[in-house]
Amino acid sequence: MRLKDKVVLITGAAGGIGYSVSELFAREGATVVATDIVAPPSPYPAGVESMDLDVTSEAEWKRVVSEIVKKHDRIDVLVNNAGIIAYEPLHELQMKEWLQMIAVDQTGVFLGMREVVPLMRKQKSGSIINISSIWGSAAVGGAHSYHAAKGAVRNMSKNAAMTYVADGIRVNSVHPGFIHTPLTDAQASELNDEVIAATPMKRGGKPIEIAYGCLYLASDESSYVTGTELVIDGGYLAQ
Ligand code: NAI
Repeated sequence: MRLKDKVVLITGAAGGIGYSVSELFAREGATVVATDIVAPPSPYPAGVESMDLDVTSEAEWKRVVSEIVKKHDRIDVLVNNAGIIAYEPLHELQMKEWLQMIAVDQTGVFLGMREVVPLMRKQKSGSIINISSIWGSAAVGGAHSYHAAKGAVRNMSKNAAMTYVADGIRVNSVHPGFIHTPLTDAQASELNDEVIAATPMKRGGKPIEIAYGCLYLASDESSYVTGTELVIDGGYLAQ
């Protein structure tokens, strides 16, 4: 019960990494509010409540956070996990696609932090976990908008960590390598094979392997950890 009595809000929780985080956190005793723009393919387990939340909408963030506070009084942990991916190199990137990526993968993280920080300041405690990527710290060719957003999330996390350190709020980013999820299942298998071949462990990760990292950052075991980047990538970034 590493998260006993904690109230957790997770975005993009209907599938992949977000679903696994929700499941694990509930098992560890948290009250989990799992949010997404779609319903999960299988129902959430016991201990997980679900709400609709499009992370690009200021109004929806306000509604969701105020409903959680009304019901549970507090939010101890925010996991900004919702995300999309795109592969266009910058010379082919259209404005509409650029703005869409920034809206979901970057602005969504900003809005989430902005909505919970005042509450966490009042509580004098909180842990914010922002899901970035190996491509938020290093690059491959193409996927310009994704690199832009994930790189921003890395530094936004450090900035928020520094800004609110005296308020008892910890902010960290998580950088997954290739993980088998609906997002990567939908991609061309040659593309997936290429990233896995470039991974020293020569395999893709499982969502639970990211969830365990998030569990550490959400729990009080990481009470001295803020502004850090937790890389979980089969060795990819060590090369
Ligand atoms: P996924 O596609 O399985 O899950 C992402 C979830 O976000 C989906 O359920 C989707 O409905 C939701 N979502 C999309 N737009 C949204 C919006 N506007 N508002 C709220 N929810 C929205 O993807 P996966 O792989 O589980 O990814 C989770 C996070 O991990 C993402 O931020 C992704 O960029 C990141 N990541 C994933 C990697 C991988 O290899 N799977 C590698 C590195 C980072």
